[in-house]
Amino acid sequence: MPLKSRITATGSYTPRKVLSNSDLEKIVDTSDEWIIERTGIKERRIAKDTEAASDLGVEASRAALEHAGIKPKDIDLIIVATITGDMPMPSTASLLQNKLGAKKAAAFDINAACSGFVYGLSIADGFIKTGNFKKILLVGAEVLSRFTNWQDRTTCVLFGDGAGAVVIEPTTEDRGVLSIHIHSDGSLWDLLNIPGGGSRHPASEKTLMEKMHCIRMKGNETFKVAVRTLETLVVDTLKENKIKPSQLNLLIPHQANLRIIQAVAKRLHMPMDKVFVNLDKYGNTSGASIPIALDEALRTERIRNGDYVLLEAFGSGLTWGSALIKW
Ligand code: UT7
Repeated sequence: MPLKSRITATGSYTPRKVLSNSDLEKIVDTSDEWIIERTGIKERRIAKDTEAASDLGVEASRAALEHAGIKPKDIDLIIVATITGDMPMPSTASLLQNKLGAKKAAAFDINAACSGFVYGLSIADGFIKTGNFKKILLVGAEVLSRFTNWQDRTTCVLFGDGAGAVVIEPTTEDRGVLSIHIHSDGSLWDLLNIPGGGSRHPASEKTLMEKMHCIRMKGNETFKVAVRTLETLVVDTLKENKIKPSQLNLLIPHQANLRIIQAVAKRLHMPMDKVFVNLDKYGNTSGASIPIALDEALRTERIRNGDYVLLEAFGSGLTWGSALIKW
């Protein structure tokens, strides 16, 4: 059997503080009914003031390493998928490496927004196949609440904080990552972005006044592109692997909007009991959403050895991607 990469353990961490839809009704002109009907979200988690992305990431990582039976000193590489890292530099992966005491690990972040985990898995898969690294820690960690405009009802109801981590190792068994597909269309960058704080609009009084350090989204346009793009992506991924939708045991989508998830499931003729949904509890946690969902799916025995699992994600960039895994 040729060398493949395999997710050998997972872990996740979500902050304890819950922000419910009725809490949001007190902040902006919205309603529990609207949020549930249009998104499926009931509540989301909010990090403590003292918690940054690496703090959430370290908890998720410790859980994943414990499940894998691996010591931090044995990790070769740490990749963190985040758009809400602790600081512009160094990378959140470097900060995480220090917190874990993963002394020999190389460390870097990637920015592919909500598709970050799938992009990261693609990078890790490449490193494993070339034999360069044997133990990779891939983390999605986000503190989106700190980049949320709490006066903008079109975005503030959507996002939440959390982290998920996976350990990736080589295998020669008939299992592991079968194929990964990543894409982007930068011409649509304007649909979803955080315009301030970079070299285009460095932090200034003006960027602060105009809340340019917060998420901006043309929601309805993004929604339409997401549905169209993801429908094509999942169909193509299965076709390329000669797997029928009926053979798929679990679809784990990025958790942005229940209606997007349902549309993709419908396109595959998949009943919703074969689709993992937890956005009702956490909202959209961007790069953290898939590893958190994956960890919960494993903990609740929604995935068994030999199952075909399809991950799919879509986000700012625009970026999108899928990964087909035989567990
Ligand atoms: O994770 C990265 C990718 N992200 C996504 O894929 C998210 C994609 N977009 C979405 O999930 C949806 O577009 C939203 C949930 C953001 C919005 O749902 P929608 O069905 O597309 O609503 P809309 O933007 O077309 O707005 C419909 C109405 C508007 O009012 P009018 O103009 O019809 O009077 C909005 O002002 O709903 C209004 N509205 C709200 N009302 C109550 C927007 N946000 C809210 C709100 N509460 N929170």
